[in-house]
Amino acid sequence: MPRATITGWGKCVPPAVLRNSDLEKLTDTTDEWITTRTGIKERHISHVETSDMAAVAGHHALAAAGLDATEIDVIIVATCTPDRLLPSAASFVQPKLGAVNAGVMDINAVCSGFVYGMVVGNGLIASRAADKVLLIGSEKMSVLLDMDDRSTAVLFGDGAGAIVLEASDGPDGVLSTNLGTDGTLAHALTASGFGTEDDVPPEIDHKIYMNGREIYRNAVVEMGKAAAKAVEEAGLSIDDVDLLIPHQANSRIIDAVARRINLPDEKVYMNIASYGNTSAASIPIALTDALEEGRIASGDLVVFVAFGSGLTWGAATVRWGERTTPLGTSDARLPDTDKTGAELMLAVQERRRARRGG
Ligand code: ACO
Repeated sequence: MPRATITGWGKCVPPAVLRNSDLEKLTDTTDEWITTRTGIKERHISHVETSDMAAVAGHHALAAAGLDATEIDVIIVATCTPDRLLPSAASFVQPKLGAVNAGVMDINAVCSGFVYGMVVGNGLIASRAADKVLLIGSEKMSVLLDMDDRSTAVLFGDGAGAIVLEASDGPDGVLSTNLGTDGTLAHALTASGFGTEDDVPPEIDHKIYMNGREIYRNAVVEMGKAAAKAVEEAGLSIDDVDLLIPHQANSRIIDAVARRINLPDEKVYMNIASYGNTSAASIPIALTDALEEGRIASGDLVVFVAFGSGLTWGAATVRWGERTTPLGTSDARLPDTDKTGAELMLAVQERRRARRGG
């Protein structure tokens, strides 16, 4: 039975930056609070849609894999911020890539979406329903941020990352996966006003609501358990892990997870300072940065672990293949913007106030 191996990777980071010092002017917060409680220094704010970022990341991943878009069988976009409720963001991505032979779909497992997408992509390849899968995590979280709610306004950012999964009969590829959910805690992290519910109170409408302590507690426990379980089910031990690439939600959560599973800091990848929490995009952006920094060698055991709204969680172990540098490059990029991150956030805030009639 073949399994999926990662043959291409890429990212798309919007040019507008929102620094903690900008947030000090937009909401009641300080750089010191944000840095010590979350590890975040800045994040990027998108002037385009989720599918635009996804397509740019997809172009880079395809070039890295040396593939033409027409060779892709399935595109999966992991997102909780699609351009529209329907069709899927993936439907907008497909023509932007020219992937005319691909079936496409979105997955919404929020911050865990990329790991859920890896499980689905691996399953499609193992069952021979697909040979080549393009998996993209892309999020425009900024549209959910409310500058009047400092508890969430400082945490999130926009961006996209992508990988190409291809069939492997060798030792490399996905070795083990697990997924989990506790829907009884669905309300601990939620954004309403985009679905079928009526009568959403205006103070929680069209914005993210979070019970930070509940999320923190569950994230540390479930990410630790999921990572340890994935390593064990691959028949390996924590000492065999070369690099853990966790969802980048909060540096304190990541540190606590690493301590729980006895993994030293140098085996844990963290780039949250530059991006904030980009939800389903955080792991593929982190993977791309880790490869560019030379943190992954051929044959390495890489563990991915995520946790998010739902509450959802999941982990995957991957034996890295031969390729650690891209086969090719793409000149795909987003259109320029003359707007700053702060200006883009103010525009979001004005739209929210107009919707509320205030
Ligand atoms: N700036 C300044 N002060 C703030 C801010 C802010 N941005 N936000 C909250 N505060 C204040 C609170 O009002 C509170 O003040 P008070 O003591 O006067 O009432 C104080 O800071 C402490 O608030 P807590 O919520 O207790 O702060 P805590 O130490 O728990 O940290 C945080 C909050 C960072 C959100 C934490 O709970 C956390 O990391 N939770 C996990 C949530 C997370 O990472 N979510 C990301 C999305 S989920 C995911 O991706 C997995």
